[in-house]
Amino acid sequence: MSVERPYTIMLVAVSLDGKISPRRHPGQPNPIGPELIDPEIMALHNARRREVDGIMVGRNCILLDDSRLTLREAAGRNPTRIVLDGLAEIPPTARVLGEEATTVVVVSPDAPRERVEALARRGARILVAGGGRFVDVAKTMQLLRAEIGIERLLVEGGGSVHRSMIAQNLYDEIQLIVCPFVIGGSTSITPVERTAFWPQGQIPRYRLDRADTLGDYLYLTYKPRPGSHGGAADTSPGG
Ligand SMILES: NC(=O)c1ccc[n+]([C@@H]2O[C@H](COP(=O)([O-])OP(=O)(O)OC[C@H]3O[C@@H](n4cnc5c(N)ncnc54)[C@H](OP(=O)(O)O)[C@@H]3O)[C@@H](O)[C@H]2O)c1
Repeated sequence: MSVERPYTIMLVAVSLDGKISPRRHPGQPNPIGPELIDPEIMALHNARRREVDGIMVGRNCILLDDSRLTLREAAGRNPTRIVLDGLAEIPPTARVLGEEATTVVVVSPDAPRERVEALARRGARILVAGGGRFVDVAKTMQLLRAEIGIERLLVEGGGSVHRSMIAQNLYDEIQLIVCPFVIGGSTSITPVERTAFWPQGQIPRYRLDRADTLGDYLYLTYKPRPGSHGGAADTSPGG
């Protein structure tokens, strides 16, 4: 583990057909939630949140799901919430800005000042990294460690953020919950979105570290295969 960035875990719940969500518009409810997923798995998800200092997501997770990113049970200290939002587009009314925990919004220098100030007035701590719509994830990791004191980070999505993180080899673990349902749909969101790693670079490879069966679910933990992370050189926007 590098001391210059947090120990970082990707966590994703994936359907049997490799999707993480149907493609939705803001306001359309997320069908992949407590109504569909076993309480035992939801409890495990909560336990994962309890083990970290920070939970990070992309701005679409907030715009679509308006997630609070807090522990599901009242007991316990909520981790710091981190949102990658290059142009400060999450609304000041977003539930992630509630008082239950500290929230960090990472913006680019191009974010409109009035939007950034509106988020800061709601109590968000603002970090600046990157340019244009995109936040520089490698720089963000350094800032989270050095300025916010995050030592252990859980990244919960979505597919675009996972893509950026994998491209720069920033995951120490990939935790995958394989769920016993099918989402389908050629436009549904997958765990890693945007540009494919092939043909522009080598495919990042991992080794299986642990596999648990929990009823009809599989909980898999993969770690990077040393020396085989071809995607690490890909630092293009969206990469
Ligand atoms: N099943 C699960 O485990 C799970 C967990 C979490 C989320 N989800 C689902 O995932 C979906 C959201 O995923 P998503 O891929 O649409 O969006 P996302 O990863 O949540 O957010 C991506 C957005 O963040 C902005 N961003 C800024 N810097 C970025 C960077 N360096 N890398 C990537 N994005 C950056 C981009 O805005 P611009 O577009 O302006 O460039 C980008 O569109 C939702 O449907 C949610 O329900 C599923």
